[in-house]
Amino acid sequence: MKLLSDRVIWITGASGAIGSAIAERACAEGARVILSGRSLEKLVTLTDLLISKGHAATAIQVDVTDSASIKIAVQQILSEFKRIDCLVNSTSISAFGSFQDLSDETWLEVIDTKILGYMRTMRAVLPQMTSQGSGSIVNISGRSGHQPTTTHLPGACANAAINVLDKGLADAMLDHGVRINTIAPGPIVSARFDKLQSMTASVNGQAVQKFKQTGTPEDVANAAVWLLSDQARHITGTIMSVDGGATATV
Ligand SMILES: NC(=O)c1ccc[n+]([C@@H]2O[C@H](COP(=O)([O-])OP(=O)(O)OC[C@H]3O[C@@H](n4cnc5c(N)ncnc54)[C@H](OP(=O)(O)O)[C@@H]3O)[C@@H](O)[C@H]2O)c1
Repeated sequence: MKLLSDRVIWITGASGAIGSAIAERACAEGARVILSGRSLEKLVTLTDLLISKGHAATAIQVDVTDSASIKIAVQQILSEFKRIDCLVNSTSISAFGSFQDLSDETWLEVIDTKILGYMRTMRAVLPQMTSQGSGSIVNISGRSGHQPTTTHLPGACANAAINVLDKGLADAMLDHGVRINTIAPGPIVSARFDKLQSMTASVNGQAVQKFKQTGTPEDVANAAVWLLSDQARHITGTIMSVDGGATATV
């Protein structure tokens, strides 16, 4: 039996390193996936690949900073699939740099995309999930929410906020059959992590630091798919680190 047979799963940030790995892994476990991001071209490349492997995949263009775009996406998903079993938020923008160099606009963009973006998609799917009496949400935050990196402070603050948002909302959903969990990845092989490392090295005037505990997008995808599945039925409101032990906090 596959972990996510016939489950309808909406993934935001699905063209990214981690989002696309979650999409592939969810498909391998029998899910029907809806992939979202701003660039339809990137999503269609991915859905074509998944469909060519015999999976059920649909691309829907969504900008998570725009509530109207999210509302339309949810209507589209419901009109095609009649239900939404799972939501994964894996959206981000790169806002790296030294504290003094980051503008108000950059901070606001991170808040709008990550904290409010995750909040908006959850607010949009929860009425359907509560009326179904079931649902599972996984939000990707990040290690920096526990252990901030000085060149990634807007993202670190967003991750900490998501950890709190998820815990509070998970508690509110306890009697509605909806589970909400957070994954906090450590360094993951990706263009995003390379960019952060180069920026950090240039701000500190050092060579690019090598991390011994670097994971892959598939490591995060394995955890996400398991948390979405019924095998994690007794788990909600938790923050799972997927970091090879890299986080130095409890
Ligand atoms: N990579 C790591 O090492 C690492 C470590 C810890 C935590 N994380 C977290 O994991 C998540 C995914 O990271 P990643 O490395 O996969 O990032 P990524 O490769 O940069 O992907 C980001 C995704 O977000 C989408 N996106 C950006 N702005 C959007 C918007 N306004 N509306 C809709 N989609 C939007 C992008 O597609 P479009 O540009 O087409 O919209 C893309 O699909 C992020 O939350 C990140 O902070 C990553």
